[in-house]
Amino acid sequence: MTVVVDVDTPGGRYPIHIGAGRLDMLDASVPADATSIVVVTNPTVGALYAERALAALQRTGKRVLRIDLPDGEVYKDWQTLNLIFDGLLENRCDRRALLVALGGGVIGDMVGFSASVYMRGVRFLQVPTTLLAQVDSSVGGKTAVNHPLGKNMIGAFHQPVAVEIDTGVLRTLPDREISAGLAEVIKYGLILDSEFWNWCEANACALRALQPEAVSHAIRRSCELKAQVVGKDERESGLRAILNLGHTFGHAIESGMGYGEWLHGEAVGCGMVQAAELSARVTGFPAADVQRVRALVAGIGCPVVAPDLGDDRWLALMQVDKKTEGGEIKFVLMPRIGEACTRTAPEAAVRDVLRHTVA
Ligand code: NAD
Ligand code: GLY
Repeated sequence: MTVVVDVDTPGGRYPIHIGAGRLDMLDASVPADATSIVVVTNPTVGALYAERALAALQRTGKRVLRIDLPDGEVYKDWQTLNLIFDGLLENRCDRRALLVALGGGVIGDMVGFSASVYMRGVRFLQVPTTLLAQVDSSVGGKTAVNHPLGKNMIGAFHQPVAVEIDTGVLRTLPDREISAGLAEVIKYGLILDSEFWNWCEANACALRALQPEAVSHAIRRSCELKAQVVGKDERESGLRAILNLGHTFGHAIESGMGYGEWLHGEAVGCGMVQAAELSARVTGFPAADVQRVRALVAGIGCPVVAPDLGDDRWLALMQVDKKTEGGEIKFVLMPRIGEACTRTAPEAAVRDVLRHTVA
């Protein structure tokens, strides 16, 4: 059975199709006037799923090409992006080419960004193959590469023509990647939906074990909540910033430790514990709920103790955040479970959180 969640933004309306076996139906999402289809993947995902994806796309009768990028967050950079442009230009791909992002969030972000600038913009299809990409990065049109001085600092908003989520591909994901994806799932409950948060607490084991009904519900609810937010604020002029809960701390962990050392979802999970601690000091978030956040982040298999980067370095790294304005760091905080706001915080409170959350 396929579930459909619609996304409606000024930059584009498109469906998210969720179901087992969607990989074999990708031809249905190819615009009729596309001149060629370029699947961008990496050797890990390509070895598992490219054959099925290419076979489905070849049914359109159009020219289908494949470009492989090296696998890893460390390659989410300007240099690797050029491999996509090289492949597109060498094959004379024109403005009606359709790019297909077959992979996790790294592939999705890079393919989306290249689609936003190739010939001033071409269309692309998201085929997310990690849980994190299925519940978050493939939806909403944020695309980017990292800069050595800051995570996701170079990018654009560019919406896909559709998102094709095949829940069957999650079976080959390493456990650590499942845990990282679940961090983004519980994030939606914490910022937007206390009932969903309670459901995640009750179903953490089923989710980690990839129990099909639990996983389908988690993906669907996450996509619905994300679609609601980006439908109201595509370009993050306000509300959308709450989707960055845990990211100010998390991005500092990722760039401070070196990209790829901590998985993005692991850093966000730990960052949510730190944001809960900061909320307790700034918005009066109840201490008992801080413990619930810590317990669920640990329960889904993510770290809850942050690395020791040195307090001054922590603060400097957190300054390099797209929410920082005039040098002031804006944090996503919760007054209670199911609600979020963006606020500045006294430096003393941030330092106190670091004292209580860093190894
Ligand atoms: P990833 O893309 O690096 O994928 C994780 C690993 O799993 C990779 O080695 C990949 O090759 C492998 N893999 C992918 N699918 C697989 C499968 N089905 N079976 C086996 N292995 C598989 O990491 P990710 O967690 O998917 O994405 C993280 C990235 O997403 C970060 O760069 C982050 O900044 C970005 N992100 C973007 C947004 C957004 O809104 N654009 C939101 C959240 C995260
Ligand atoms: N992952 C944050 C956002 O899409 O806005």
